Amino acid sequence: MTAPIPFLDLALMDQELKTALERKFSDMLSKGIFSNGEEVVLLGKNLGKYLKTDAAVIPCSNGTDALEISLRALGIGDGDEVIVPALTWVSTAEAVKLVGATPVFIDTDSAGLMDLGLLENVKSSKTKAVIPVHLYGKMVDMNKLTIWAKSGGIRVLEDNAQGFGAFQNGKSAGCWGDVGCFSFYPTKNLGALGEAGALITEDEALEKKIRMLLNHGQAIRDQHEMMGRNARMDTIQAGFLNVKLDYFQKWQEKRKNLAVLYLQLLSGIGDLILPESILDSDHNAHLFVIQTGFRDELKQYLQDKKIHTSIHYPTIIPKMDPYLSKGLFVNAEKLAASVLSLPLNPFLTERQVLKVTEEIKSFYSKTS
Ligand SMILES: Cc1ncc(COP(=O)(O)O)c(C=O)c1O
Repeated sequence: MTAPIPFLDLALMDQELKTALERKFSDMLSKGIFSNGEEVVLLGKNLGKYLKTDAAVIPCSNGTDALEISLRALGIGDGDEVIVPALTWVSTAEAVKLVGATPVFIDTDSAGLMDLGLLENVKSSKTKAVIPVHLYGKMVDMNKLTIWAKSGGIRVLEDNAQGFGAFQNGKSAGCWGDVGCFSFYPTKNLGALGEAGALITEDEALEKKIRMLLNHGQAIRDQHEMMGRNARMDTIQAGFLNVKLDYFQKWQEKRKNLAVLYLQLLSGIGDLILPESILDSDHNAHLFVIQTGFRDELKQYLQDKKIHTSIHYPTIIPKMDPYLSKGLFVNAEKLAASVLSLPLNPFLTERQVLKVTEEIKSFYSKTS
């Protein structure tokens, strides 16, 4: 009996990291500060350093709140339209609806990124912003997108929930738009031990507004200048993220090395389409997503062999009840029916990658 291969088991961190996190937790317990505080300030600085940016980095409660707050900070609401890719995690469109604006869906390219060639078709006089999503960790062509947006006075709000660690022409994902939104959900490449997120902006007026919006509309305690909410980051999560950031580069190398192995071992197998761009610097190897016309059969076959996979995502957003929207989303629909994410994380071994690929080969030898 071979051991199951989980898609991602967050309990599998090594002892060195566990000890560092335990020490940090104990340290924070004795300090008794559980909201904001020096760990949160330090996290803002550490993230800025890693991302090589002088922009303001504002830690917050999670990636969904980051999206909603940045839309509010940009003054987007009732009657406004925001361009959103048809294939993404729901938060991208959800945040737009939460502020009262309308998500206008755009098809993706064959790899799942917003199809920039279609922007002019979906733009209207009501378009106030566009939200590119660096899906699976691969960056949208931000140079092209920001030039297009600027020429039409359209704001760019980057959904960088999945792209932490990706750089395009030396500039980090999340640092290209008016605001960049990050998620440190536990399964992300840099994941907290709970919910956490961040916003990035170079615009000082926006920064001020964002800081107020996520703290009940106050810059000074008890002086509420606008309606805000509580979307502050837990101090404990900031502390954990400060510890984990020290390991991040090592984990990225591990992800890339495992991706090299997958690409080598799966090349030319059956009808598989592989994520060839995963080794590029503007891809952080968040997910290893293959495409196949036999997706459901392959998933089941691997499941029977105790190899766990995942689907990102089985339904496009404009087909979901709260977001129903007409339009042609040919690539996004095709991806929703054919994508399969294989295990890829820093705790996976080369032996496990070999096992996954052997079973995939065995599936194809039986289906052909
Ligand atoms: C593309 C995308 N956008 C937004 C989010 C929302 O982030 P969070 O789960 O931290 O709210 C996620 C995370 O799951 C995501 O993958």
